[in-house]
Amino acid sequence: MGLIMIICGPGSEQIGMEIAGILGMESSIVKHKFFPDGETHLRLTREVDGVDVVLVHSTSPPQDRHLVQLLLLVDAIREGGAESITLVAPYMAYARQDRRRLPGEAVSVFTVIRLLTTLGVLRLVTVNVHNPAVFEGHWLEFIDLSAMPLLAEHLKDSGFGGAFSLSLGKKPIDLEHAKEAASILDGEYGCLETFRDPNTGDVSLGRANIGVEGLRVVVFDDVITTGGTHLKAVESLRDGGASEVHLACVHSLLSKEKLLEVLEATDSFICTDTVPNRCSRVRVAPLIADALR
Ligand code: R5P
Repeated sequence: MGLIMIICGPGSEQIGMEIAGILGMESSIVKHKFFPDGETHLRLTREVDGVDVVLVHSTSPPQDRHLVQLLLLVDAIREGGAESITLVAPYMAYARQDRRRLPGEAVSVFTVIRLLTTLGVLRLVTVNVHNPAVFEGHWLEFIDLSAMPLLAEHLKDSGFGGAFSLSLGKKPIDLEHAKEAASILDGEYGCLETFRDPNTGDVSLGRANIGVEGLRVVVFDDVITTGGTHLKAVESLRDGGASEVHLACVHSLLSKEKLLEVLEATDSFICTDTVPNRCSRVRVAPLIADALR
């Protein structure tokens, strides 16, 4: 590899600059503005000819805008003659629709993968992407980092040792989240199955595979969006006799109103800074910098 440069896209300027600072690497910020008609204008501020570029850019809300910015940026970097493009997307949007449940449905995660590979992204680094398995086997080197241990470490430092770690969902990776956290919190773990109706989007819960009576429970999840799933889980855990119910999610897309609802319903709520908000207690830049190193 020759010169390596970190380009901080508008989706993750802060994280990009932190990564560059940790690694002592050159970085540059992308200039961006909107045309009067609302379209995006972007400009790289450094030459990238012959450079191995690491573009740091999340497609967090507003997802569509950030996704278009990402595509424009990758293309500009490729056209600028970059030697290689590594995309670091701390939050990757459109990753949850990973199969066709209803006829004619767009399976967005594959559309995004096709766009990125076609535009010349060589490597993709994500943090707790919804279903890492679907990113395997494409023309893309793929690394998914887990911030679950960081959330668990933060909780352990705050006195949560021995708490019960619970994950939601039914994919193998979901149980992994609880397992990873439990190995740090030194407590038991389990998984509560969730089912989403493809027509209405309504979520229903299965049965937890272990009782929670009298336990201090921390629910770990990759993402919280409306909070609907988690509020149902919190209610069910309280009904099941849990003494406390806390929530730790890597990515929080909650609106201000929904965040208040979640704070009201839980004993505490924390998340990382992949999508910064007032409950971001864990920084992901050191995790990403380690992986890039
Ligand atoms: C589902 O598989 C995810 O891990 C989350 O539990 C889900 O996406 C959360 O969605 P919401 O906050 O809208 O219930």
